[in-house]
Amino acid sequence: MTRQQHLGWFLARGFGPHGWGHPYLDWDYRWTSPDLYRQSVRELEQASVELLVIEDAPSLGSPETLDLRVRHAFGGPKLDPLLLAPYLFEATRAIGIAPTVNPAALPPYTAARQLSTLQHLSGHRLGVNVVTDTGSARHFGAAAPLGHDAAYDRAEEWLTGVRALWRSWPEDALVADVESGVYVDGSRLERVQHRGEHFAFDGPLNAVPFTDGEPLIVSPGGSGRGLGFAGAHSDVQLALAPLEATALRAYRQRIHDAAVAAGRTADDIRILFAIQPTIVASAEEADRLVRASANPDDATIVQLARKQSSDLETDLTALDLDAPIPPGTFGDHVSHGSIARLVGDHDATTTPLRVLLAGLARLRRTGDGTGLVGTAEELADRIEQLGEEVDNDGFLLWGDLHPVTVHRTLDELVPILRRRGILRRELDDRGLRANLLGS
Ligand SMILES: Cc1cc2nc3c(=O)[nH]c(=O)nc-3n(C[C@H](O)[C@H](O)[C@H](O)COP(=O)(O)O)c2cc1C
Repeated sequence: MTRQQHLGWFLARGFGPHGWGHPYLDWDYRWTSPDLYRQSVRELEQASVELLVIEDAPSLGSPETLDLRVRHAFGGPKLDPLLLAPYLFEATRAIGIAPTVNPAALPPYTAARQLSTLQHLSGHRLGVNVVTDTGSARHFGAAAPLGHDAAYDRAEEWLTGVRALWRSWPEDALVADVESGVYVDGSRLERVQHRGEHFAFDGPLNAVPFTDGEPLIVSPGGSGRGLGFAGAHSDVQLALAPLEATALRAYRQRIHDAAVAAGRTADDIRILFAIQPTIVASAEEADRLVRASANPDDATIVQLARKQSSDLETDLTALDLDAPIPPGTFGDHVSHGSIARLVGDHDATTTPLRVLLAGLARLRRTGDGTGLVGTAEELADRIEQLGEEVDNDGFLLWGDLHPVTVHRTLDELVPILRRRGILRRELDDRGLRANLLGS
């Protein structure tokens, strides 16, 4: 049976110069102005995309590697997506917006209040992408950065605190009775006193209760601890996995098990798998691109080395491309997951850097199930098939946020999905929960 899919969009380089290095710089491209995003988000809404997630990192990274992050704009600069959100809400009526928030950067009381404000202003369309990156610790106090799992402990404490503050106003506390003149029954408010390992604060929150539910909690963490966090706390999980049935099924099962272990049900959470498709006009064109990608030119290799240097905070551009990466190149600050993605199936001690980078450039076809280069029809087939085979909830389209990219990705795909009954024709006006969770 055809299973309707939810679509999200991920602005993967955050509220920054995400178009840098793209040909559409010669289109209108003023990334610090809201117009670009307003136009794009309206088009996403027209395409029944239910949620826009805006990546963020509050820091430019460590002082030693700062230049690597900003030189080609892969790792910054970035403005605060929480403050972009109101412009996008105002330009639209139904799509949800989820800025990224790091609990290290926004204390629970301030977070609960600001997020509550946005939830009301947006007609209950707010999501919050909760991340646990620890590299920015030095901007927020003198304490040493937390370890990976401890950052998740802090995020759990933060979220529990934020929710306690939101719940400090029971629905019936807001009386608003013109006749008696009573606006709020203050005796109904919960005081909330939190004294935890990472935070200490008192409530109640200085905000009114929600009428259509709390902001949606979104999480992207892919580690074991991250999947556990999602199962226990999230409404939406952003997932990275090879796009085939066994991997998707296993990923879903881990989240669902964690949800059940935390006293929730599998149906309490939607899992969106991140994909970055390249949609072309014909199967022949797709084959040609795939063939060409097997032998990337020097310019492509250099561009990949720059991007990897930013992501890995390690200068790969200074290394000999035709030799293996010397032992000890990567410091302790570098994510193991990112190194593993660069190395892939190769032996890092013998494989030249150029071959590793070429591996990242390698494209594969949608049609044969190995990749995501193909026609819109082929991608629709894949989306439909995974929806049926693994009971998939939906996909997160990964890219920048410019009308050119939005059109390239969705122009043909959306009508095909709608005609097949896989994509809704219109979004629900009752908020993000109604669209994504059906509640
Ligand atoms: C789809 C997706 C989106 C992500 N967005 C962010 C982000 O906006 N900011 C960030 O610091 N990390 C982001 N991450 C990376 C990490 O998952 C995140 O920092 C997390 O809190 C730590 O994750 P881990 O459980 O994967 O180690 C993202 C990952 C994925 C797959």
